[in-house]
Amino acid sequence: MSSGEEIAFHVDPGGKLNGRIRVPGDKSISHRAVMLGSLAEGVTEVTGFLNGEDCMATLAAFRAMGVEIDGPEDGRLTVHGVGLHGLKAPAQALDLGNSGTSMRLMAGLLAGQSFDTTLVGDASLTRRPMRRVTEPLAAMGARIDTAESGTPPLRIHGGQPLRGMAYAMPVASAQVKSSLLLAGLYADGTTCITEPAPTRDHTERMLTGFGYPVTRTDDTVCLQGGGRLRATRIDVPADISSAAFFLVGACIAPGSDVVLEHVGMNPTRVGMIDILRLMGADIRVENPREAGGEPVADLRISSGVLRGVRIPEELVPLAIDEFPAIFIAAACAEGETVLTGAEELRVKESDRIQVMADGLVACGIDARPTPDGMRIRGGHLRGATVDSHGDHRIAMSFAMAALRSDGAMRIRNCANVNTSFPGFVELAAGAGLGIRQEAQS
Ligand code: S3P
Repeated sequence: MSSGEEIAFHVDPGGKLNGRIRVPGDKSISHRAVMLGSLAEGVTEVTGFLNGEDCMATLAAFRAMGVEIDGPEDGRLTVHGVGLHGLKAPAQALDLGNSGTSMRLMAGLLAGQSFDTTLVGDASLTRRPMRRVTEPLAAMGARIDTAESGTPPLRIHGGQPLRGMAYAMPVASAQVKSSLLLAGLYADGTTCITEPAPTRDHTERMLTGFGYPVTRTDDTVCLQGGGRLRATRIDVPADISSAAFFLVGACIAPGSDVVLEHVGMNPTRVGMIDILRLMGADIRVENPREAGGEPVADLRISSGVLRGVRIPEELVPLAIDEFPAIFIAAACAEGETVLTGAEELRVKESDRIQVMADGLVACGIDARPTPDGMRIRGGHLRGATVDSHGDHRIAMSFAMAALRSDGAMRIRNCANVNTSFPGFVELAAGAGLGIRQEAQS
């Protein structure tokens, strides 16, 4: 979905971050607002919607299946729901760009339709594992073809009766859980998913907000097929995964003092705050409140001295998207940081263990990748040219590293920052980062 024009970031060394910042809306919640709003009966009004390429890919897919959606305009979206059985066959394959969330969640939802669909994506998405959803969906009665390696494109055969099932997930994945719950809406009987560790629960919360009964006991979430979704209002909080870059930037750059406004504080998403606090970060949670079924707060961060830690494995799923930024914090900390139990990072938009280790080594940091994590010894960051490999979160993480580097950082292949954080360069520059983007040679 990206425009095809590659861009690089050039970031001057040093500086500090200051001011009140509101980062864009939560990506996970924005995707789900389009999906559930489309399947609901009535008109769903969304505010704070993330106008990034990933969520726009989801939006375009539902439009292609006959859903009328107005906006987004200033984060406002109006979704004219068609009901659980109102989607129409799209005229062509649905292109989900870089977005794993779109593809995995929609695989479940589309397995229950009466028509066939084909889901395709960009080069990165086409490398990502899909059997984690297609195999359990097949056990529910779905028929989905993948490429031989279990990767996209997905060809989903409609008209298959689905059966509810009890499934214990081998990986802690909110995408898998959500995919199966969405299929469960169309299944005969009860679908119960057991997680090996808690993962983000936005699907469960939002289904409840749409009036669909969902039950949770300990590590298992269940729903019955055959119900209805009733349209609602959704206020999307600022994305803690986007706030992450400013959190780390403010922690590592002396003299920084930043307030991040209206940040989503869902307990299944705040692992990074716990990890940074273990490292000694000064993060205050102010004005906690609730918005649209999700906890939110303002976060105040001041710079300080960080120390290396052994990251508790139970925090890994709760900070899964924030490790590129956490690795930068580790590179600026005193002593060694050790991450284990995070092999999932190898199958994100890039292999985030290898790509981050390569970039840190280019900056002169002792970073040693392991199969399921990394050891990073904090040290002196040299300015360097690093390649984000088209991974939005890696690009933004290295941009923040410039706050502590002794020379300029040049980051290649940054166009995909628009998948999750349109306006990053302007917002970061306004807060004090010496960043500009340039056409990539
Ligand atoms: C997401 C779940 C996570 C996360 C992704 C968004 C979601 O993936 O990495 O960016 O919206 O459900 P996994 O559930 O596969 O870990």
